[in-house]
Parts: sequence; C-alpha cells; structure tokens
Amino acid sequence: MDSRVMRLFSIVLLGFGTFVQAGVVNGENSMKTAFLGPHSQVHRPSRATAGEFRLVPDPILILDYHNGPVMTGKEDAIKLFVVYYGDFAPKQRLTLRQFFKSFWRRRTQWPASHPTVEKWWQITRLYVDMYATPVARSMTPAGEIFNRYSLGKSLNQSNIQDLVVKSFGTFGVDARSMYLVLTSADVEVESFCNNVCGTHYYTFPSDTTSSQMVPYGWVGNAATQCPSMCSWPYASGGNLQTPLVAPNGDEGIDGMIITIANILAGMATNPYGNGFYQGDASIPLEAAGACQGVYGPGAFPGYPGELLVDNSTGASFNVYGAKNFKFLVPWIWHPTTLQCAGQV
Ligand SMILES: *[C@@H]1O[C@H](CO)[C@@H](O)[C@H](O)[C@H]1NC(C)=O
Ligand SMILES: *[C@@H]1O[C@H](CO)[C@@H](O)[C@H](O)[C@H]1NC(C)=O
Repeated sequence: MDSRVMRLFSIVLLGFGTFVQAGVVNGENSMKTAFLGPHSQVHRPSRATAGEFRLVPDPILILDYHNGPVMTGKEDAIKLFVVYYGDFAPKQRLTLRQFFKSFWRRRTQWPASHPTVEKWWQITRLYVDMYATPVARSMTPAGEIFNRYSLGKSLNQSNIQDLVVKSFGTFGVDARSMYLVLTSADVEVESFCNNVCGTHYYTFPSDTTSSQMVPYGWVGNAATQCPSMCSWPYASGGNLQTPLVAPNGDEGIDGMIITIANILAGMATNPYGNGFYQGDASIPLEAAGACQGVYGPGAFPGYPGELLVDNSTGASFNVYGAKNFKFLVPWIWHPTTLQCAGQV
C-alpha cells in the first residue's frame, strides 16, 4: 500500500453517549500506527427527561458541509460488497443479509406506525453535494465473499484495507460502491473495543485500486470482546438495569447492525472526510454519530429512547426490514430540522 497518511473515521458506540475517535496511521515507507487515545466526550443536544430541569436550552446541532462528494451511487443506488471474515453461522449471515436487503424502496407505502430501514435511509437523501446531487436513494447488496481467517485472527487496520483491495479481484473496483468488511466475534482488530466498534475510510489511487478512491468500512462482532460498548442496548450499561432483548436473538449481530447502519450513513455522507460532519476532521461527528445512543423518542445518554416491542419475543427494535425482520438503527441528524430523527 502506498498511502502516506491514513486517517480512519472511527465510529464509537458507548452505552452512555457519544464518543468519536479517530485513528491516525502515519506511514513513511511502511505504515506505522499511532492511534490517538480516547477523546473527550462529544457534545450533542442533551435530552431532558420528564421532571428534569434544564437551565440552558439545547444547543443546535449543525453538521457542516465541507464541499466534498457524498455517495450518489449509480442510477441512484449504491452497490454494497461484503467480505465476511472469520466464522459467521448461517443464522448470523441470514440476519445480516436481510438487513442489507432492507434498503430497497418498495412499492408499499407503510404508515408512520411502521418505520422501515428504507424510510430511515431516506434521511440521508437530504444530504446533497455542491451540485445539488443527494445521497443515493437505495443500497443494493451486490456481492459477498467468505474469508476463513486468511490473515489470522488478529488484524490491524491495514489488513482490513488489504482485504478490501483483495476483494476487488472478485467484486471489481468501483468508487461509487461501498465495500464492507465484517469480522467475527473471535477476530481481534486493532483498536476494536478501544472505544471503536467500526471504522470507515477509503483506498488511495494506486495500481491495485485501478487509480480509484474506494470508500470502505469495517465492523466487528463485539459479542465476547466488548458487548457493553458495541452491543448496547442489547448488553447492559447506562441506565438499563437489564439489557434489552435483541430482535434477532444475537446480541453480537444485532449490535453489529447498529454499527453497520452508523458506518453506512457516515460513508454515504462523508466518504472522503470532506463531506458532512461537525468538528475536527480527525474526530468527525458524522450523520449517525451525531445521534449516537439515540434510537427513539425521549432518549438521553444511557437510555435508548422509546422503542417498538415485538410482543412474541419481547425484543426491542425501531425499524422493520426485508421480510419483516426487525432491527435497531441509530437515529440520523436531519439537515432540515437540525434534530436527530428516525424517519424522514
Ligand atoms: C499489519 O499486520 C501485518 C501482518 O499481517 C504487518 O505486516 C504490517 O506491518 C502491519 N501493519 C501495520 C501498520 O502495523
Ligand atoms: C405490542 O402490543 C402492544 C399492546 O397491545 C401494542 O400497542 C404494540 O403495537 C405491539 N407491538 C408491536 C410491535 O406490534
């Protein structure tokens, strides 16, 4: 890899609120990692609960636009290529696949009482670039690879990029698509669980990337490594006495979907670190990152907000996906109302 300086946009999910951390990889000839330590908590509008007094009004949250591209896709769709690294059980793959199939616009017009992944994604349509082109209307799963530990069970961030570059051989190289590496619960990844649940970045133009800058992301399964950080609220933490029941019966995978949703929204609206974000480019607060820990009305740090409940299993969720699968996705900053929102 011939990257000189690599900055990873890291997404952090903590039970009690929002942390965004950037890992900076400085390379001279070889790449050396120098991840920054955990940053101080990023401020977002505090949410008052009933009976709580507020002395100062909530600050208005603004994600500034930095004149760079957003992901507009091709024919208004972004292709999604997924590398499953390690061991994913068939049921885990099924759950993840159903999530990836949930971005299609369907003909059915669901009522507001039936929130869906597609309606959630449509918030990103309100993020438009300087040519007035919005983020693509949909995302379509376009290919998957299963890799059984070709690089072992302990990866660094440049290994993640290597897996993406290698996948170009199967998927082709397309800077208008997204590439996502998912690592199974037994795989350790540099900085994973050190306030990081997933990251996104892009390849630099080189021979191996057909001179393209391809956006890619990585998300790990935190089930055994740090569930209370990356699988909250399906693991204990914050004001939750007991963890919520995960809608697909797998706290690791249901937690991964939260982070995947976060990373996909961040990649779509800030693929090259010059799109929409608040704050320092090295610790950007992105579309969903700005609303971390917020999954429903009335959320405040440590409490996810009011969620839907599956009466047969007791599971909590906030959106329906393909085949009526149920998922939890983070709210996204809404560029018109300047508030976090779950649906358009
Ligand atoms: C990442 O790990 C590989 C071994 O798989 C090693 O060769 C490489 O130097 C490491 N890169 C960094 C930046 O630490
Ligand atoms: C669960 O039951 C309650 C009470 O009957 C109902 O209001 C709610 O809509 C049901 N949840 C779902 C997801 O259907």
